[in-house]
Amino acid sequence: MDYRKVGKWGLMLSELSLGSWLTFGNQLNLVDVKEIVHIAFDNGITFFDTAEAYNGGVAEYLFGQVLKDFNRMDYVVSTKIFWWGPRERNQHGLSKKHLIEGLYNSLKRLQLDYVDIVYCHRPDPETPLEEVVSAMDYILRQGMALYWGTSEWPVDKIRKAAELSRQIGILPPIVEQPQYNMFVRERVENEYLPAYEDPGIGLTTFSPLASGLLSGKYLNGIPEGSRLDRFPQVKKFVEEGGLLSKKTFEKIRKLRKVAEKVEATLPQLAIAWVLKNEFVTSVILGVSRKEQLVENLKAVEVKDRLTGDIMKEIESILKE
Ligand SMILES: NC(=O)c1ccc[n+]([C@@H]2O[C@H](COP(=O)([O-])OP(=O)(O)OC[C@H]3O[C@@H](n4cnc5c(N)ncnc54)[C@H](OP(=O)(O)O)[C@@H]3O)[C@@H](O)[C@H]2O)c1
Repeated sequence: MDYRKVGKWGLMLSELSLGSWLTFGNQLNLVDVKEIVHIAFDNGITFFDTAEAYNGGVAEYLFGQVLKDFNRMDYVVSTKIFWWGPRERNQHGLSKKHLIEGLYNSLKRLQLDYVDIVYCHRPDPETPLEEVVSAMDYILRQGMALYWGTSEWPVDKIRKAAELSRQIGILPPIVEQPQYNMFVRERVENEYLPAYEDPGIGLTTFSPLASGLLSGKYLNGIPEGSRLDRFPQVKKFVEEGGLLSKKTFEKIRKLRKVAEKVEATLPQLAIAWVLKNEFVTSVILGVSRKEQLVENLKAVEVKDRLTGDIMKEIESILKE
């Protein structure tokens, strides 16, 4: 496992990390979570990602139960604030009230004094950026979080937030959390480019397998118990993104051949491909079984087998 700097900043993250969306508290109970987090940690993963919205706080609660097993200085944990309850009750979005109260409650579920990174889980058109930055001023000065970041924010908002942060003398957002995989690339490879330089953001990228599509498991229909079977809203989202198409499946079949060539499985190839992007700080894995984690961890070795020629071959398949 390699460790990478978050953009230009001092914080370092393991290049693979472990997330908890849809899995913790749904497919994985406390016993499973404990086993999986320990496997991750024993294999060098030191960065763990969660959110107040994940299974109504249950994912944070489960992390809280397990992170106690480790020395606080040995891991980095992030949570995200945005979706908890109705906006009318100030439990939604990025108002100063919800950011501070939401994070306060997350810390209680995590049983921690602070998270390393707090993310604004989406941009909030209803709340002025001044208010978001003012909330971050409070959060950072109170020590509730050490750094802050954004998730799926447009680059101009990230830059504006950085400017406002500098004006009041706090750290700007240091990290963005976007989706990034072989099929969803535009933002990471084009839009965020100016922000890699200034304010110098890093990227913790999510959905490296496009919700499992890049494992090849959906080529012959939707297997029972798989994500697209269990979570119809995710299936709808993937469908709307045009990813359940004949064309995509054709590419997946070809990518599987490339994986065989480098003696990897398709999920390992897909994750290793994300790792090859120098702007990516950490690839957040999602796993519903420990066997998937054990398989996916090997992506760090596969990365070194993705030579220039192999990357070109992958590119030509993806561009078809
Ligand atoms: N900031 C945000 O808005 C945001 C959004 C999404 C995710 N995230 C974060 O990123 C993390 C990862 O995202 P993700 O879960 O969407 O990642 P993903 O890698 O695209 O999908 C993970 C799912 O793919 C399947 N899978 C994983 N490894 C496999 C393997 N080796 N073989 C076959 N199937 C495999 C599993 O689903 P099944 O076994 O159930 O089919 C697993 O739950 C999340 O846990 C969360 O922490 C953040």
